[in-house]
Amino acid sequence: MPAARLVVLVSGSGTNLQALLDACADPAYGAEVVAVGADRTGIVGLERAERAGVPTFVQRVQDHAGRAEWDAALTTAVAAYRPDLVVLAGFMKLVGEDFLAHFGGRTVNTHPALSPSFPGMHGPRDALEYGVKVTGCTLFVVDAGVDTGAIVAQRAVPVEDDDDVEALHERIKVAERGVLVDTVGRMAREGWSVDGRRVRLGA
Ligand code: GAR
Repeated sequence: MPAARLVVLVSGSGTNLQALLDACADPAYGAEVVAVGADRTGIVGLERAERAGVPTFVQRVQDHAGRAEWDAALTTAVAAYRPDLVVLAGFMKLVGEDFLAHFGGRTVNTHPALSPSFPGMHGPRDALEYGVKVTGCTLFVVDAGVDTGAIVAQRAVPVEDDDDVEALHERIKVAERGVLVDTVGRMAREGWSVDGRRVRLGA
């Protein structure tokens, strides 16, 4: 079976992207990163792609007439690489209608909280402020909402008494990388199905 084609979208440091790039170095993993896209320039995530010899592209909202035009341009840029699966790995933008029309059902995002708790940009901070004793990470199939999509995988991370946001987020990111690599690999090798809110890996 040919390796599944992954397009990964990033906005920041790209440690999740790096974990995927490293996993894809093994042909048995069953996937390859064919392109990395971003919504901004000058980020370490893009450097990681360049170091790995993976093509990159950037679509910035401010270079387009509006959000819908940006979304259409992003969709065209991603489509050029004919992905089997699109992975949002720290991509800090909501994709729009066009994107979901093309890639809905085959776009996953990683979120640093246990959904449905603490959606949005500040999952680790919000969990810490709420005082939960367990948080974690969620890999989900992207829909039109904010971190509301059907859940593919989750992993729990205990909150320690002396955690600050950074320490907690770093431990969550270790869990995220593990979940991302394990789950994307299984999706690539075994396929997946979505029935309502329930996602099942395997044929
Ligand atoms: C990850 O923790 C990811 O879950 C989070 O940004 C970090 C990116 O790290 N994304 C969100 O909060 C999106 N709502 P990375 O750039 O090192 O992979």
